[in-house]
Amino acid sequence: MRATISTIQKMKDQGQRIPALTAYDFLTARLVDAAGVPLILVGDSLGMVFLGYETTIPVRLEDVLHHTKAVARGCSNALVVADMPFMTYHISEAQALGNAARLIQDGGAHAVKLEGGRAMAPTVHRLVQSGIPVMGHIGLTPQSVHQLGGFKVQGKSVEQARQLLDDARALEDAGAFSIVLECVPAQLSAMVTDRLRIPTIGIGAGPDCDGEIQVISDLLGLVTDFVPKHAKRYAHLADEIRSALEGYVSDVTSRAFPTAEQSFSIDPAVIEKLTDRHDSEGSA
Ligand code: KIV
Repeated sequence: MRATISTIQKMKDQGQRIPALTAYDFLTARLVDAAGVPLILVGDSLGMVFLGYETTIPVRLEDVLHHTKAVARGCSNALVVADMPFMTYHISEAQALGNAARLIQDGGAHAVKLEGGRAMAPTVHRLVQSGIPVMGHIGLTPQSVHQLGGFKVQGKSVEQARQLLDDARALEDAGAFSIVLECVPAQLSAMVTDRLRIPTIGIGAGPDCDGEIQVISDLLGLVTDFVPKHAKRYAHLADEIRSALEGYVSDVTSRAFPTAEQSFSIDPAVIEKLTDRHDSEGSA
């Protein structure tokens, strides 16, 4: 049965941890869905992971929309959350509503995620009032990387920690159904989690959040040049893919592939006729 925002809430209420993952394409989404992950995020991290940008800032609504459609087609059980890219919800509530509606109506997402705390609460409220479930995202908010001065752990000072607690409360009051805590000290995440009714989903936020979200390429070992401190590798797919590709190149160049096993054939009489005709044309 399809997970809903009530399923996610029930998991927190029953003390069941919530595993969440990003996915950006049909095939991966189908695997993640089949593995029983109840919440799949089409994160704007797709800009860095799949499109090769240095930050998430260049990602457009059309990019997330395109990938959300593919992910939604691959999922029959998970709640699909689409990320709202940079500046697609800041200009006005009407702009946020229009863009969120596209992710839901055209993309097939069941909810949207947006970054920011108290400042975003009125927007969250407006979306929720219009029937669009919203996931908040505070702590390290990558769309504000230039404002934050880099990809850094947030909430380390008393003032920052208080702000984070206030942001979390404001999002819950605005109607968010859950909140991502990214790169937040573990003890502070535990406090937020304890004080909120809605689930917290951590990434680099310690073991005490209600759930955990990871970027799929980190988890599967598809990226070899940089592994974030918060990630754990469950596979080394880059190594496997590299060795498979080298095998392919070697087989093709050495004529070991394809062989008769991978080839199609026709009746030899057809070939004979073609050869006869060719010969008779040649002799004419
Ligand atoms: O875009 C993304 O993948 C995210 C997760 C890191 C939560 O926002």
